Amino acid sequence: MSKSVYVSKAAAVAIVAVAALALVAVIGMVIFQHTRIHQCPSPLPPTAPPTELITPEPMPNLRLPETLIPESYEIYLQVHLHTEVNNSDNQDLRFTGNSTVKLKCLNATNTIYIHSKALNLTVLGVTDENGKGVPVSRVRMWEDKTEFAEIELANTLRVGGIYYLSNEFQGECNGSNGMFFRSYKEKKDKFTTAFVAASQLESTEARKVFPCFDEPAMKAVFNITIIHRRGSIALSNMPQKDNVEMEIDGEEWVVTEFFPTVKMSTYLLAFTVSSFESKETNHGRIKLRTWSRPEVMAAGHMDYAHSITGKLLDIFEEYCGVKYPLSKLDQIGIPEFPIFGMENWGLIIYSEKYLMYEAGISSTSEKYWTAILIAHELAHQWFGNLVTMRWWNDLWLNEGFATYMSYLAMDRMEPDKDMKDLFIVWETQMAMRVEYEGLFSGLTEDYPSTRNEIRTMYNIFTYSKGGAVLRMLAETLTESVFEKGVQSYLKAYQYNSAETQDLWSHLQRAVDNSSVHIPVAEVMDTWMQQAGYPLITINTTSGEVSQEHFFLPEIPSQYNYTWQIPIKVMKSGSEEIKFDLITVKGPVSKSVYQCNENEWILANVNYTGYYRVNYNPENWEKLLQQLETDHQKIPTLSRAQLIDDAFKLAGIKYVNITLALRTTKYLLNDTEFIPWETAMIHLHHLILMFDRSEVYGPMKAYLSKLVGPLYDHFESFTNKSSIPDRHTAQLNQVNAVTVACANILPKCQKMATNLFDLWRKDPTTNPIHPNLRPMVYCSAIGAGGEVEWDFAWKMLKMSSSDVERERLVEALACTKQVWILNRYLEYTLDPDKIKPELFSSTIRSIANNVVGQYLTWNFVISQWSNITQMLSGTYSAEELISGVTLRFSTKYDLQQLKTFDELHSGRGVFVESLKRTQTNINWMEENKQTVLEWFQREVSHGNNKV
Ligand SMILES: *[C@@H]1O[C@H](CO)[C@@H](O)[C@H](O)[C@H]1NC(C)=O
Ligand SMILES: *[C@@H]1O[C@H](CO)[C@@H](O)[C@H](O)[C@H]1NC(C)=O
Ligand SMILES: *[C@@H]1O[C@H](CO)[C@@H](O)[C@H](O)[C@H]1NC(C)=O
Ligand SMILES: *[C@@H]1O[C@H](CO)[C@@H](O)[C@H](O)[C@H]1NC(C)=O
Ligand SMILES: *[C@@H]1O[C@H](CO)[C@@H](O)[C@H](O)[C@H]1NC(C)=O
Ligand SMILES: [Zn+2]
Repeated sequence: MSKSVYVSKAAAVAIVAVAALALVAVIGMVIFQHTRIHQCPSPLPPTAPPTELITPEPMPNLRLPETLIPESYEIYLQVHLHTEVNNSDNQDLRFTGNSTVKLKCLNATNTIYIHSKALNLTVLGVTDENGKGVPVSRVRMWEDKTEFAEIELANTLRVGGIYYLSNEFQGECNGSNGMFFRSYKEKKDKFTTAFVAASQLESTEARKVFPCFDEPAMKAVFNITIIHRRGSIALSNMPQKDNVEMEIDGEEWVVTEFFPTVKMSTYLLAFTVSSFESKETNHGRIKLRTWSRPEVMAAGHMDYAHSITGKLLDIFEEYCGVKYPLSKLDQIGIPEFPIFGMENWGLIIYSEKYLMYEAGISSTSEKYWTAILIAHELAHQWFGNLVTMRWWNDLWLNEGFATYMSYLAMDRMEPDKDMKDLFIVWETQMAMRVEYEGLFSGLTEDYPSTRNEIRTMYNIFTYSKGGAVLRMLAETLTESVFEKGVQSYLKAYQYNSAETQDLWSHLQRAVDNSSVHIPVAEVMDTWMQQAGYPLITINTTSGEVSQEHFFLPEIPSQYNYTWQIPIKVMKSGSEEIKFDLITVKGPVSKSVYQCNENEWILANVNYTGYYRVNYNPENWEKLLQQLETDHQKIPTLSRAQLIDDAFKLAGIKYVNITLALRTTKYLLNDTEFIPWETAMIHLHHLILMFDRSEVYGPMKAYLSKLVGPLYDHFESFTNKSSIPDRHTAQLNQVNAVTVACANILPKCQKMATNLFDLWRKDPTTNPIHPNLRPMVYCSAIGAGGEVEWDFAWKMLKMSSSDVERERLVEALACTKQVWILNRYLEYTLDPDKIKPELFSSTIRSIANNVVGQYLTWNFVISQWSNITQMLSGTYSAEELISGVTLRFSTKYDLQQLKTFDELHSGRGVFVESLKRTQTNINWMEENKQTVLEWFQREVSHGNNKV
């Protein structure tokens, strides 16, 4: 599954809170009543006694016993949904079907346990190889956490014997996983409502579609037949084998049979029934198809996704050394699919919005996210589908790999080779920021058993930290040794499942055949089994190095952790990168960390490690000097790391806040994206803290000065509303305009107003480049009045693109006119004005505006009962409050929040917001004066040496 790929950019702070909850998000939907009752097709008379429902004492073990293993299934699934209806009263959301599973008996037993949930299950019978029945004496449904059906037999099954268990079942397409449906408006002669049914079975939802051995290691072959309404198209993992029209109970149906699957896990099965259209290409031996609503297909919004899929597949085939084993790959975009994407083998399902690339509307970063998302799901075809984690505790083997590989593949696909570097800001830094707050235990330490425990495995760590430690390992072993090890791991466990240790042992073999010497498992276990990450402290005078757990001071580490830390070190005046492995707490003295007084040492070169580095003050000084005199001597990613580490070390008071601020001064001369992006995340926090105080004056002056040269660097593009060629340059142009316009650099303001006016004069063609729209809209509306606001509002109403609508909704929050902001807040409660799904983001955008902050807070307090009703969608009350209170940093703020919390929840629901407010108060008390003086000093120099 994919989600973390969107954890990125300036929304960082807000997203951190969302990350852990994202998977649980449920899209609200309308369930249509079915008034007509349909007959089930030719049911066989049940041979088993009626099913008992029981809730006894819990099973000692939530895992299936290993007495029986499935070899293959035969599944008939009849989806009653009409994809086109004129009158929704006739919609039928049921699915009915039957299944036969072929089992092999490993240990003698007289009980079959099989997963089944929310299915009306009827056991049809059990037979042996010769078709002879094995009488069923009792069937019990465990209505507890096991989600087992227990089938007790009159006779004991023989070890080595083959048996067939047949069931019949009925369920409903509802909710947001298992089988579910989505509806959308479709324009034929007039607007009608159309429907699509789709599946989402990771992690434990296959059991909601048919009874099965629903554990990832219980791989089997699946023979699937879907029976669906005439006029609709059914897709599944494999290519279609047969397709016949048939009349059943006086209705027109199509019976689509698929080829048997390869041996695979249940959670990777997929089914869709739709009247979508597709685009098709034969890519060598693989038929590639991309599916979407006809309207989206006709507009060409799937062209980009379709065009890169083949290239990415080739890259993965080459990297993995194993061919994609199926003869087709379907990718389908479903409106409001609950997650970004799901890697079902041969039928990848995406949220339509993230698969789409709208030429002329989507921005460069939106395009990358689409590409990274596709690369992520394609990587899973090997990492997850071909080789699957044995159990969910090793989920990181799926998700960490897919995260790491997605950037690697992007890098190989695009000609300018710095795409991989985006990993640093979008994954590594993000995970390190969250993890330091102590929200986490080891990557593979916990053993999840229940549905809810498994769900919590889908967090930023399995994705981003998992990817980051793989990157650290790959950079330590060298890419080519890593790739060899990965290839041998994939070959050894294909169509099978593996554990973390299996990966280490194959990487070790590759290491042993190379010139590298690293005990892979020993090193990696310290990163996988321990929470958090270390801080390395280096004294370049004595050459001493030591490590400690890097933690927020409020939550001192209870653990006596030691990591095995691969470190790349460089010294001034030399390009040579030395390698060292630290295995003890230290301090220990090593000559690699020692230099004379004119030299500096830089550790964790290129930010390859998942840790932070602190130095003795003298070395920091020399590094700062180097940045200011010739920053290119320090590699780009390391520049980002120095900024990131300095701010984080200041956060725990290991260095002075002024040292952190000084790491940003050299940005006057830097045009690279990664260091700028890193600095912006930290500066954004300062802005939130200070934009209502006397600090903001000098701070704004500092920021406009700092960004001036960067703005000029891109100005010739920006003024023409065009973009540079290099990909990361395009992203940094956005940063330049964001910082410049937000801090009221006059030429930025002028550029924005000009472009916006051009658009206003001719609304039919928007001359503003999509990359620049958020800032241009925001600046023009911020500087303007009612006329600009009303124009943008009109464009919002007219726009047919979700992406554009979201941009406009955010930009409308930029006005400085209090009465307009208040009117806008009122609009959010009217679903005809602001769509309910945009409610939370609109509120948060208004709160983000310094003028709107308290207006929003007052609005939230006074309208809370209305607001909680609006919230029943994707966002929780906590997330909303968290977004509205980002700036809270005074005792008064804290008191208000506490009162509100007691009044409306009394359960400390807003605990994260309260905690953050307290942290902000402490931070302000300690740093405000220092920061004010520092900014004042910096801007009073008057010359261009900021
Ligand atoms: C599924 O199909 C395969 C190949 O045709 C066959 O060998 C297997 O027995 C089938 N499985 C079941 C449960 O019918
Ligand atoms: C399952 O349903 C299909 C289609 O209705 C039918 O042909 C088949 O005989 C059924 N199989 C079992 C085991 O009931
Ligand atoms: C189950 O069978 C396997 C091999 O088929 C054997 O290794 C194992 O000891 C058996 N377990 C029990 C509890 O009988
Ligand atoms: C399952 O059985 C329950 C109880 O008999 C019934 O209310 C429900 O409608 C059934 N569901 C389906 C999908 O047939
Ligand atoms: C670094 O080592 C030198 C020499 O032992 C010592 O004088 C100095 O205090 C140390 N610096 C720090 C910051 O520990
Ligand atoms: Zn994934």
